Amino acid sequence: MMRIFGTAICVLWAAATAAQEMPAAPALPAPQKDGGKPLMQALALRRSGRSFKEKKLAPQTLSNLLWAARGVNRPESGKLTAPTAKNWQEIDLYAATAEGLYRYDAKAHRLEPVFAGDIRAATGQQPFVKTAPVCLVYVADHARMDGAPASTRDFYSTVDTGFISQNVYLFCASEGLATVVLGYVDKPALEKTMRLRPDQKVILSQPVGYPKD
Ligand SMILES: Cc1cc2nc3c(=O)[nH]c(=O)nc-3n(C[C@H](O)[C@H](O)[C@H](O)COP(=O)(O)O)c2cc1C
Repeated sequence: MMRIFGTAICVLWAAATAAQEMPAAPALPAPQKDGGKPLMQALALRRSGRSFKEKKLAPQTLSNLLWAARGVNRPESGKLTAPTAKNWQEIDLYAATAEGLYRYDAKAHRLEPVFAGDIRAATGQQPFVKTAPVCLVYVADHARMDGAPASTRDFYSTVDTGFISQNVYLFCASEGLATVVLGYVDKPALEKTMRLRPDQKVILSQPVGYPKD
């Protein structure tokens, strides 16, 4: 009897711990696919910014940002706003916030919680990273790259990340947000912090927020 009781307590404790570890997913409204600045104005405004207000992004802004970055723009084929080599779609977009880490599911246009806790400081080695309300992390999933040679996987995943990053830059320029892409990242440490599999590799990160000045 005592043994059954003890087991039940353990199961309940494990369930409670798991529930605590999962942050609520921020609801994403449908992305707004019209509006924004004309492309040539966004290009004229594109720049890196490294100083952020702590203010969180509005849900609509976060939704639009993720869709602009690598959302599905052709539902009939599932293809994305960013080109990807062989349409592997191997770059996953993670978002680190004060509440937790999330993975963007482009097909469902949803943020899937990964775990609770603030890992923003680990997404770069410059002090400003932890002040941005959202730190995007670009992660290549080598399992999706059809057994290509390592040099091909590294090259394509780096190039594909560049397209996503530029989409983010242009969206931020259009919306008056600050952003900077970061290569100065302790990648092995971040991969560990994000609890990635060995065949998932951090390529770059990119904090986003309202500019401080
Ligand atoms: C691949 C790549 C890595 C970068 N890494 C960093 C970085 O770790 N930290 C940083 O502050 N800026 C980083 N930058 C931003 C550049 O410093 C910035 O783009 C450059 O100074 C030109 O400024 P602009 O983006 O305003 O034109 C990186 C840019 C690229 C393309």
